[in-house]
Amino acid sequence: MQLLDTFGRVHTDLRVSLTDRCNLRCAYCMPAEGLSWLAKPELLTDDEVLRLVRVAVGLGIREVRFTGGEPLLRPGLAGIVAAVAQLRPRPEISLTTNGIGLERMAPALVAAGLDRVNVSLDTVNRETFVRLSRRDRLDDVLAGLAGVAAAGLAPVKVNAVLLRGVNDVEAVELLDYCLARGYQLRFIEAMPLDAQHAWDRSRLVAAEEIHDRLSAAFSLTPAVDRGSAPAETWLVDGGPARVGIIASVTRPFCAACDRVRLTADGQVRNCLFARTESDLRDSMRAGATDADLARRWVKAVLPKKAGHGINDPTFIQPTRPMSAIGG
Ligand code: 5AD
Ligand code: SF4
Repeated sequence: MQLLDTFGRVHTDLRVSLTDRCNLRCAYCMPAEGLSWLAKPELLTDDEVLRLVRVAVGLGIREVRFTGGEPLLRPGLAGIVAAVAQLRPRPEISLTTNGIGLERMAPALVAAGLDRVNVSLDTVNRETFVRLSRRDRLDDVLAGLAGVAAAGLAPVKVNAVLLRGVNDVEAVELLDYCLARGYQLRFIEAMPLDAQHAWDRSRLVAAEEIHDRLSAAFSLTPAVDRGSAPAETWLVDGGPARVGIIASVTRPFCAACDRVRLTADGQVRNCLFARTESDLRDSMRAGATDADLARRWVKAVLPKKAGHGINDPTFIQPTRPMSAIGG
């Protein structure tokens, strides 16, 4: 059995959201006051997460990425990573984090078997950081980045989202910062996944604009074919350093998508933009066997839509925001 959809896409990359909570309030994600978080009994326990990841590995999942909200807020994270590292075949294990607390946690996570990390960093200016994330935590994020690099997880990847009128003019500065430290920077176009539904195409900082802004300061030459990886990459000033742009909105890569998502409350989502979810938590709690869960998972992936449809006039934003789905 494998996770196949009607378009022939085979799913090998599982994103697991471990919590919907976060210690930042990034404007493209959440309102300033935060959200009403999932209650503890609704969340999968560590054992439940592990059981579902084991079932997924049996279905051909080869990479498990932990996300949130902010996954470092999950007390059991290192234990979960260690247990996933014991699975056979052992999946690659990665983490998408805002970096707060990473400085302290990095050695334990690496020891547990974490293979790769992506840190979100949209600006290196304190004032812009506060304006964008509504918290004064830039120093913690930068320390987290340095800490994870020191713990040996190279290459450290950095994700940046540009917002018009906030940090769009800082793209070059951010790339300079990352180049100087050997971090691999990737810009992600902001998607309509914010809880407050304030996304507006007219304010989108599109891939082409990001490329133009960077080209003013660096010479960019296209790197190899992106395959199923969503980032289009360029060599910076002849390489070996690279920069990526993930044009989720203006150049969607849905046809090559190999991702499936599990929310912190145990729902399978076959797309970030899916309008429906398939429950595994309640079935599991009602006594489903691993084989039952595997069948449900296969059934959840099969009807995945061809694409996200953001550019269709009939597009409707999903009810569940990014912070409760996982990046
Ligand atoms: N559009 C694009 N990227 C987003 N992220 C969070 N919300 C959005 C959005 N609406 C990013 C975070 C993080 C990753 C999980 O996704 O900055 O890097
Ligand atoms: Fe937190 Fe990530 Fe959302 Fe920012 S984008 S508020 S770091 S979950």
